[in-house]
Amino acid sequence: MRSFPAEFSDLLNSKGRKWMADHTAGSRPPARNGFFELIDGIMDPATARSCIGLLDRSLYPLLRPYVDRIPRGSISGMTRNYSESLPKTMSMKTCILLSRRFREFEPAEAIGLVSMLRSGSLREFAEASTGLRLERPSPQVILYESGDYVGPHNDHHPQNDRVKNGFVDLHIMFGNDAVEHQWLVYEEERHLKKIRDVNLKGGVAVYRLPFWHYTTPLAARPGREKQARRWLLLASFEIARRVGRAA
Ligand SMILES: [Fe+2]
Repeated sequence: MRSFPAEFSDLLNSKGRKWMADHTAGSRPPARNGFFELIDGIMDPATARSCIGLLDRSLYPLLRPYVDRIPRGSISGMTRNYSESLPKTMSMKTCILLSRRFREFEPAEAIGLVSMLRSGSLREFAEASTGLRLERPSPQVILYESGDYVGPHNDHHPQNDRVKNGFVDLHIMFGNDAVEHQWLVYEEERHLKKIRDVNLKGGVAVYRLPFWHYTTPLAARPGREKQARRWLLLASFEIARRVGRAA
């Protein structure tokens, strides 16, 4: 595999194509903030392995570390019991593909990645899952290696008019064979008590944000810490509010 297909739907197996056929536009009520769905088994293992090989070869060298630690003084600076607060902490690698101004854009598009993430069939998939009409997405790639994680956060952007009432993220996930586990923990009834396996090989996760969630540290199979990788291809969609929408 030298490049991604122009359409996301061309990555799908018969189960994935059936899922799309069974979930036509408008077949679900509009998802509210807090909606989360995992759709697995929709790509053949060989397809997922080919995607991983392509990402390893072509994209890995372009990634940048994206790291935010627990602030120094977050404990020693406390003066009152039970007053602790934790900003978003994380350790991962990323590659932002918003426009050609980003140096990673051209090499990512050379393997068809931006076009695939902006493809009509990927947007249709996200629309079918959420029952919402969505705009053209912003693409990004995230890579988790051994120990990489994201701490609790909610992805609310109250200063951004276009997404302050919610937006939809779709993740195409490719964990390789060296990954033992990685989990998404998210809120239900204002507790962080839901947990789902996100170490999928070609599965998709759909989020209507904001809601509280975190991703546990990636654990590698014993002795395979250096090889363990979970790729995450992300399309972030604004919710359409007008008649008609951007092409
Ligand atoms: Fe998040």
